[in-house]
Amino acid sequence: MTTRLPSTGAPDSSTAPVTACRSDEVVLIHRMFRRLFAEAPGLVRDVTPGDTRRATFLARHLHGLTALLHIHHHAEDDFFWDRMTERAPACGLHVAVMRRQHQTVSDQLDEIDTLVDAWAPGADAADAARLAAVLDEVDRTLAEHLADEERDAFPVLDAVLSEAEWDEISAHAQHEKPPLPLFLLLGLLMEVVPEPERAAWMARELPAPMRLAYRVVGRRRYEHALRRLHPVPPMSERAARR
Ligand SMILES: [Fe+2]
Repeated sequence: MTTRLPSTGAPDSSTAPVTACRSDEVVLIHRMFRRLFAEAPGLVRDVTPGDTRRATFLARHLHGLTALLHIHHHAEDDFFWDRMTERAPACGLHVAVMRRQHQTVSDQLDEIDTLVDAWAPGADAADAARLAAVLDEVDRTLAEHLADEERDAFPVLDAVLSEAEWDEISAHAQHEKPPLPLFLLLGLLMEVVPEPERAAWMARELPAPMRLAYRVVGRRRYEHALRRLHPVPPMSERAARR
């Protein structure tokens, strides 16, 4: 595992290599993806057959989710693997596994997009079952990939990428227009940051106007978006499910 900078911010020459564990920022994003993909199959299975309104709403959410993961993986492909191969040639095997897993996930995301488009217009039960099954599959593939990446690639990337390169990656991510509502993503990210670190995380990661916007309107929009994603079923329905 990599070594964090001491709290003074000055490198400690007695421990090498010294890094700031910048991959921790990506681990937070991974946690958000784990949550969103883990809950997706259930969201589809819960739709009443024929409820095209709900299916259309979820179709937008699922397309946003697949697009977001494509963006995330493209950024990793652009910024990580060539540099890791060059600077840590002994880790070539891990890089090959990462590239292969990204391709597998990418193929599954494309399949999801196709199945979403087939399901949403009629909210047919058989289409929902097919879509939910592939969502289960991508959830499994992704869980395996994220664990492999965090264990086998991130410690190496922490050691071989410079602070300026991590800053460049983070600037690139902020430049992309998110395919899901911004405040939904911000709220989800906030939830995966351990509570005692949340204020410091916000101060570090969000510009002041964004922090203000989140406090004034963003938090409420996040809660509203979550309620739309997970509406509470009527009492009668909940009782029938028990
Ligand atoms: Fe990845």
